Amino acid sequence: MAPRTIMVEPFDLVVFGATGDLAARKLIPALYHRDEAGQIAPGSRIIGASRRSMGDADYRGFAHEALAQHAGPMDDEALARFEERLSYLEVTATGDEGWTALAETLAGSPRIRVFYLATGPELFGPICERIGRHGLASDARIVVEKPIGKNLASARTVNDAIGAVFPEERIYRIDHYLGKETVQNLMALRFANALFEPLWNAAHIDHVQITVAETLGLETRAGYYDTAGALRDMVQNHILQLLCLVAMEPPTRLSADAVRDEKLKVLKSLTPITGDRVAELTVRGQYRAGAAASGPVRGYLDELGNTESRTETFAALRVDIDSWRWAGTPFYLRTGKRLPTRVSEIMVAFRPIPHSVFDSSAGPIAANRLVIRLQPDEGVKLCLMIKDPGPGGMRLRQVPLDMSFADVFATRNPDAYERLLMDVVRGNQTLFMRRDEVEAAWTFIEPILDAWTTHPDPPKPYTAGTWGPTASIALLERDRRTWHEEG
Ligand code: BG6
Repeated sequence: MAPRTIMVEPFDLVVFGATGDLAARKLIPALYHRDEAGQIAPGSRIIGASRRSMGDADYRGFAHEALAQHAGPMDDEALARFEERLSYLEVTATGDEGWTALAETLAGSPRIRVFYLATGPELFGPICERIGRHGLASDARIVVEKPIGKNLASARTVNDAIGAVFPEERIYRIDHYLGKETVQNLMALRFANALFEPLWNAAHIDHVQITVAETLGLETRAGYYDTAGALRDMVQNHILQLLCLVAMEPPTRLSADAVRDEKLKVLKSLTPITGDRVAELTVRGQYRAGAAASGPVRGYLDELGNTESRTETFAALRVDIDSWRWAGTPFYLRTGKRLPTRVSEIMVAFRPIPHSVFDSSAGPIAANRLVIRLQPDEGVKLCLMIKDPGPGGMRLRQVPLDMSFADVFATRNPDAYERLLMDVVRGNQTLFMRRDEVEAAWTFIEPILDAWTTHPDPPKPYTAGTWGPTASIALLERDRRTWHEEG
């Protein structure tokens, strides 16, 4: 049965950076799908703003093209209704052009007002300042994208600039991983089942692995990516957020601050990785020429056209949490571009049974594993030992209890942005990062970045299409463990 859709209140959404990549690939398709599902109230408006000179009709054309490329199958009637909501204003983020027109457009509208900054972070301050100066901020909400800073100091500067105009309860910092279906399912799995929580601690869990592997390389994002690298791009935000959801204590309820308080406690209890520990507990890599599914691919430096770059395209870390629950249970994190397959998953490795009642003919008894697959093919898999069928004696084998969401729920899996955009309109901040979380994550990441920057060695090379540098394998082997890899 299709899920029930509840219409949100009418809103005006102003998208800065309206002609950019994020708007085309994610925001416009997400809004279209919510509109098609009947969630967007009549009268709601989507106002594109950017410095490009174009009119409403041109912007509708831009959106039409974006939808054709990124939205999948569409309904003609819904498309026409959606395009009607779109308008465009030429507004400069660092100048005064267009602001009066924007103020006039929004004037007297009783609707919920949302500003979405799909721009580089250097424009967050100037845009917020102008929103404030033109009297547009009262009761409005603001949505900002990562990266929020390059380190702790710059994150604070960005947060201060936004905070000078908007109070924290109206700031929505997007981490699109929090909007992914399976990420929320992690909370359902942990807190809506009695089965796991009693075992969810160091006494029963040997270690946890979080892998976010991508097959893509640099694509068109060289300008941004080369100044960021895998640690800033993926670990500081998405992967640490996943770690928090696995490791946090049960919140008292599923309210924004109750959840975010618990995540913050996790971030603050991460054992700092500093000094010599950086070389011991982290691995950084950069891909060389190799092979992807599509055929031979160039190395990072070649794609970039800069042979000097020391930006990492792969990062692996062993992270420990100084808490009663997790002392002695490491979390291994890894992410990289140009890896063999696109997969994001969390693997929880339980401890082995304390004593075997079986004799050696039963074979080895593997410890239980819970694998939560975020993408592709979202699902949950619990690996259990069972008896091999047949009369040949007691032989044991590990088999998965495998639930693929696509098989269980015959519905389209909404993109993370669909949920997150509607949550902004609903005023629900649970899946958005609070300022203190972002800053705590930078506090943990910064010493690693600093050590990498000052270290004389460049990142370790790995061949495109492999699982990163061999040092990443060694990181676990040293602890007598191996990365979970299937197929
Ligand atoms: C973004 C990163 O935040 O997440 C990209 O900047 C990365 O480099 C992307 O490719 C991955 O997102 P997803 O949803 O495709 O896993």
